[in-house]
Amino acid sequence: MNKAILKVENLKKYFPVKRGIIETLRGEPQKFVKAIDGISFEVRKGETLALIGESGCGKTTTGRVVLRLIEPTDGKIIFDGTDITMLNDEELRPYRRRMQMVFQDPYASLSPRMKIGEAIAHPLLIHGLASKEEAKELVLKMLKRVGLTPEDEFYDRYPHHLSGGQRQRVVIARAMILKPEFVVADEAVSMIDVSMRASILQLLESFKEEYNLSMLFITHDIAVAKLIADRIAVMYLGKIVEIGPTDEVLKNPGHPYTLALIQAVPSVVKRKEHRKRIEITGEVPNAVSPPGGCRFHPRCPFADERCRKMEPAYIEYEKGHFVACHHPIRG
Ligand SMILES: Nc1ncnc2c1ncn2[C@@H]1O[C@H](COP(=O)(O)OP(=O)(O)OP(=O)(O)O)[C@@H](O)[C@H]1O
Ligand SMILES: [Mg+2]
Repeated sequence: MNKAILKVENLKKYFPVKRGIIETLRGEPQKFVKAIDGISFEVRKGETLALIGESGCGKTTTGRVVLRLIEPTDGKIIFDGTDITMLNDEELRPYRRRMQMVFQDPYASLSPRMKIGEAIAHPLLIHGLASKEEAKELVLKMLKRVGLTPEDEFYDRYPHHLSGGQRQRVVIARAMILKPEFVVADEAVSMIDVSMRASILQLLESFKEEYNLSMLFITHDIAVAKLIADRIAVMYLGKIVEIGPTDEVLKNPGHPYTLALIQAVPSVVKRKEHRKRIEITGEVPNAVSPPGGCRFHPRCPFADERCRKMEPAYIEYEKGHFVACHHPIRG
């Protein structure tokens, strides 16, 4: 088995909730949104781990915390064997280059006043990895590599001259120009036309092979996770409820939540592959005061007293496939 490039141990991120005047005057205690609440996982070298789950379950927060773009509240982040949780900005610099993020909204993450070529060259220059002339040459090569040709024409264009798919290619080029070892891709194809998705996924896949890249691929779309991921981690309300090899998790999910997510997208797995059927109702509860016991119990058709009282530990459901549930689905 490959070694881990990223290892996360009991990671937490709580955001303080803004208090109104009345709460402050009453001296009410500070409340927190428990965006991630004690998650552990690893991403192995050369592997793509997809992080899936409904809106608000903590996927983006996880991506930002592991790259140290925001500070964790608790827990450990280990990158290639080094604990980077407490490193200061200066100490983090060499790691910043090795870990990159591809953002969800390419329009928002590109400066409207910066030419495409300059935007892609920027990371090379701030890390002092190339002179201006060298950077330009590398950028032209990269533009060609990501399919933005004629490359010298694209070099001088501004983001608003590009389509959504082309802008996403620019964002990928900017992340890849540093030859990172680990990338967090946050909903990298969600805003792109379905017809363009496959080619962007292929582009990411080609970098994965060329650089032996490891990826944390955040998506709410199971069909996309199925296409790109080696393993899948399922998040619910700040926790990972199931993790395992992609095919295993999709065909043989152990957590009722995972099964419901998969069955909500009929194209992903044929109906006959799952013996049980499940539909969940209701909304994701508030992350400020999540339900006690198993967080999923208010929406779970199998919940009993134990689920209401006790948080489930992970069980190894199949080899390398873990489920946190008191009543995992069998067969
Ligand atoms: N800076 C912040 N301040 C306060 N709360 C935040 C902040 N960022 C995220 N949250 C809250 O943390 C929780 C998790 O948010 P996050 O963006 O990680 O979810 P997500 O799984 O990426 O959702 P989506 O699929 O909609 O992108 C949400 O309740 C969100 O409102
Ligand atoms: Mg998100």
